Amino acid sequence: MKSAKDYIEQHKDRFLNELIELLKIPSISANSAHKNDIIKTADVIKASLENAGCDKVEICETPGYPIVYGEKMIDPKLPTVLVYGHYDVQPPDPLDLWDSPPFEPVIKKTDLHPEGAIFARGSCDDKGQMYMHVKALEYMTSTGQLPCNVKFMIEGEEEVGSESLGWFVERNQEKLSNDVILISDTGMIANDVPSITTGLRGLSYVEVELTGPNRDLHSGLYGGAVANPINILTKMIASLHDENNHINIPGFYDDVDELSLEERAKMAEAPFSKEAYLKALDIEDTYGEAGYTTNERNSIRPALDLNGIWGGYTGEGAKTVIASKAYAKISMRLVPNQNWESITDLFIKHFESIAPKGTTVKVTPHHGGQAYVTPIDSTGYKAAEKAYASTFGKTPIPQRSGGSIPIVALFEKELKSKTILMGFGLDSDAIHSPNEHFGIWNYLKGIETIPQFYHYFTEMSK
Ligand code: BES
Ligand code: MN
Ligand code: MN
Repeated sequence: MKSAKDYIEQHKDRFLNELIELLKIPSISANSAHKNDIIKTADVIKASLENAGCDKVEICETPGYPIVYGEKMIDPKLPTVLVYGHYDVQPPDPLDLWDSPPFEPVIKKTDLHPEGAIFARGSCDDKGQMYMHVKALEYMTSTGQLPCNVKFMIEGEEEVGSESLGWFVERNQEKLSNDVILISDTGMIANDVPSITTGLRGLSYVEVELTGPNRDLHSGLYGGAVANPINILTKMIASLHDENNHINIPGFYDDVDELSLEERAKMAEAPFSKEAYLKALDIEDTYGEAGYTTNERNSIRPALDLNGIWGGYTGEGAKTVIASKAYAKISMRLVPNQNWESITDLFIKHFESIAPKGTTVKVTPHHGGQAYVTPIDSTGYKAAEKAYASTFGKTPIPQRSGGSIPIVALFEKELKSKTILMGFGLDSDAIHSPNEHFGIWNYLKGIETIPQFYHYFTEMSK
């Protein structure tokens, strides 16, 4: 019987080349000009699942982009693993900050990836990590080692809020029934410090528009006499945090799940070098809510951040103008027990209340979702722990992440099963950023570790 290590060694060039082909397709869900690329990517994934040994593979149409569904059912008495991933990617801009074009993958060595990393949009988030599961399945089916049933559900709208996936899950509970959901769309602490993500933050994403006078004005003729929407919007936004960097929206923290000092002490055991963190980002110090550590600020505490702000004249040279409108996009990262829809309402009410006379404010909610925490005493978690231990030679550390995969909370509600987040990326892999990359070592290690999860999960479910 061939070990995963041997199989990977034998096929690794092909595994890499197949991923590279997938990364060449610009499946940007936020931009409708790429609709055909999305469809093409879904087709490539369908074919890859067929080749990997799925018996039934379908492109499921939705009101939005299609979902690729595949399954291999070997025995209804055995457990079923449902793999989720996404084939859409973030827009690559700003393009001029990429060292090589985002959809022309190249392999380069980095300090943290001495064996090379694939540079391309989606390499880590999430095409590379999703494809590890396809190759792990290929290994298991072609060597007769698939120990249980498996279903795949790969969507194309994760980066824009997974609206169609929610629609699909609500209508297909039976089809998607499973014993555990397995996702690789997160990260780990370091290649020699494996960790399993046990929490995701929730999200409320809104856009605000502030209108002042009914047209753009000469900033000399009117400056000082009317509310300038950009002046006012920046002032309103600045008031959303107090001097301790607490979020200044009445009721915002009411439902926040506070961790005990013991839980926080346990969290603080995870290795973290502030020095390395500062160096990696070229900053002199961290910044955030008083009374919490960096790791707490970006995982167990909520955060409110501007993601974009615009208005007025931003072209070359100077134009003297008071713009009629100013805009911003704002994300609120939420923690367990905060309800994203209530938080969105609180934000709207508060933001409207602080707009001075002479301006009008419009808040448009985009998307959101609930936070998620997975227990570490479940069969799924324990199987994942054993899987990492067997391939990394170390017990992985449970760690809550600051990112969001809003659909995970919905999976639990609709499908009644726990999600295990086996991520193999690193924070330094620059997801959503120029020069996104994914270590080749990480890619292959993922393919090696995933079959171990299937093995232990099946064993431990008996
Ligand atoms: N894969 C990420 C989320 C992630 C990355 C979680 C790393 C934990 C560690 C996912 O694709 C993502 O970017 N999610 C969005 C939310 C979505 C609704 C746009 C996010 O977190 O901004
Ligand atoms: Mn992702
Ligand atoms: Mn993402």
